[in-house]
Amino acid sequence: MKTAIRYYTRSGNTKKLAEAVSGAVGVPALAVDQPLTERVDTLFLGCSYYAFDVDEAVKTFVAQNRANIGRIVLFGTSAMMKSVYKPMKKVAEANGVALEREDFHCRGSFGPAHKGRPDKADCERCAAFALKALSEQSGPTTA
Ligand SMILES: Cc1cc2nc3c(=O)[nH]c(=O)nc-3n(C[C@H](O)[C@H](O)[C@H](O)COP(=O)(O)O)c2cc1C
Repeated sequence: MKTAIRYYTRSGNTKKLAEAVSGAVGVPALAVDQPLTERVDTLFLGCSYYAFDVDEAVKTFVAQNRANIGRIVLFGTSAMMKSVYKPMKKVAEANGVALEREDFHCRGSFGPAHKGRPDKADCERCAAFALKALSEQSGPTTA
């Protein structure tokens, strides 16, 4: 089973989670400006909130790479929201891509709020979430 990781970040918070997922599942964490070069069974997609939505770069990535995405598993951060599932569900549906209902979401630093987040514990929880998401597929995981 093939796996890839892509993320969008402005201040590095989502990248921290992406690197934790990378350490857990053993494939590189790349930014969304890097297209998928082959079809993957699971795409771990990291994105966060900016003005109550995900960035256009994330939407464009899904649209341009939809033929290579088996399913999306989301992870992300925000100052106050609980999940990026809702905006990403619209994106997934518009592109005919499967989206797992379970995602990982935690606080991300924003100005003076949530300093140091995601922290080590957040990253460990995100890594465990990613491993669980993969274990719910059948077959071995490869790059
Ligand atoms: C321009 C801007 C808009 C934001 N809007 C929201 C928002 O609507 N809701 C929210 O919970 N957090 C919001 N945040 C906080 C970010 O979601 C949070 O800092 C997140 O961890 C940023 O991740 P990144 O460093 O990977 O870009 C906003 C941050 C910025 C810079």
